[in-house]
Amino acid sequence: MKPFLIKNKSILCGKVNLPGDKSIAHRALILSALSCGKTILKNFPVHEDSLATLNALSALGVAILRKGNQILVSGKGRGGLRKPGKPIFAGNSGTTLRLLLGVLAAGDFKCKITAGKYLSLRPMARVNVPLRLMGADIRAKIKANQEYAPIVINGGHLKGIVYRPPVASAQVKSAMLLAGLSAKGRTRIIEGLSTRDHTERMLKFFGANISVNNKSITLNPDKDLITPGEIYIPGDISSAAFFMVLAAIAPGSKVSIERVSLNPGRIGIIKVLKRMKAKIKVTTFKRNISQGFEPLGNIVVSSSKLKSTMIAASEIPSLIDELPILMVVACLAQGKTIIKDAGELRVKETDRINSMVKNLKGMGADISVSKTGSQENIIIKGKGRLFGANLKSFGDHRTAMSMIVAALAAEGKSRIDDVSCINKSFPGFLATLQALLKG
Ligand code: S3P
Repeated sequence: MKPFLIKNKSILCGKVNLPGDKSIAHRALILSALSCGKTILKNFPVHEDSLATLNALSALGVAILRKGNQILVSGKGRGGLRKPGKPIFAGNSGTTLRLLLGVLAAGDFKCKITAGKYLSLRPMARVNVPLRLMGADIRAKIKANQEYAPIVINGGHLKGIVYRPPVASAQVKSAMLLAGLSAKGRTRIIEGLSTRDHTERMLKFFGANISVNNKSITLNPDKDLITPGEIYIPGDISSAAFFMVLAAIAPGSKVSIERVSLNPGRIGIIKVLKRMKAKIKVTTFKRNISQGFEPLGNIVVSSSKLKSTMIAASEIPSLIDELPILMVVACLAQGKTIIKDAGELRVKETDRINSMVKNLKGMGADISVSKTGSQENIIIKGKGRLFGANLKSFGDHRTAMSMIVAALAAEGKSRIDDVSCINKSFPGFLATLQALLKG
């Protein structure tokens, strides 16, 4: 791929509707496949990760038709999936792989899941361990005592368990809930820190017997999943984050992001930017949240002078995917920003602490990592400016998009080595950016 050239500063203006939320899209596909009846998914985001789940479900015998950003899934019901003819390829989509493990744990066949270059390096014991406790037979590649893909899973008779995940992970929780749909007895997950609750909401939307009491989630598998008929997938707030930040830092900017997901487990970015004195107005639409609808609304951001902040460990799950772009904002704000307990970034598509620290240092930032026990904290002394540089995506979509935003706000020209990884979550990113950039 040719290096991509970025010229400095511009104003961001206009309105935008973004493709549907990636996390919600995976769950909408999976629950539609496991339910009885046909489901139409609207505003479906077409990217490498969502297609990985779609193709996997097709390989498992689910009829799925796609016309642009609309999908029609003909559900097979719980227990209706069939053994695929060859191994399932999860690409580099962690959500595809981990959630599918939950689905396949309940299947009555043996199946192998393989992964792409980046996903093959990501830890899998976090999901394999609880699924084994539920009764699944899972064999993974072992290296230095850690478990990785490829994974062979032999589904079978599962039992519900009570589990306290040692890492805050919505993927682990979701895999267990999906397995719990076919288990004997109740599955209860007690989270230390609450993570995004898209699976819980969507299970409710499909009529499952699920209850949430603070950090304790209980699923009783006594009800079949019934399709709600149609699901509108609200815009992806993790994609919106790049435009929110650019509008907040580029003087004279004002951007309105419409019909975007405002799930309470995902709005950490809004809270932090507001603390940093960003001008943000959120309008929430009226929806029947109690039935499992996802909250959504419009976000209007205009530019202002930004100040530093402290991001607490308890906030991390609500903004985990936005930490790379928040590191960029912290460099462009005035003062010392501390991001506490950011270690999970090391096991994303790439080691995002390494990718962001290297890139931002190259742009003149004062950014460092400190350790308190096993906890890694990122310290950024914001100087209000960055300088153009040669940047690297490290094959990671969020590093690439964050660095493009940094380059647009920087003084001088930048180059980034490879932006094809953006196709993982947001193939239209550059075109959308181009349409909003003025001047
Ligand atoms: C996701 C959960 C988060 C997030 C990932 C998507 C999901 O990961 O980082 O991009 O859709 O459940 P963890 O479950 O590892 O926290």
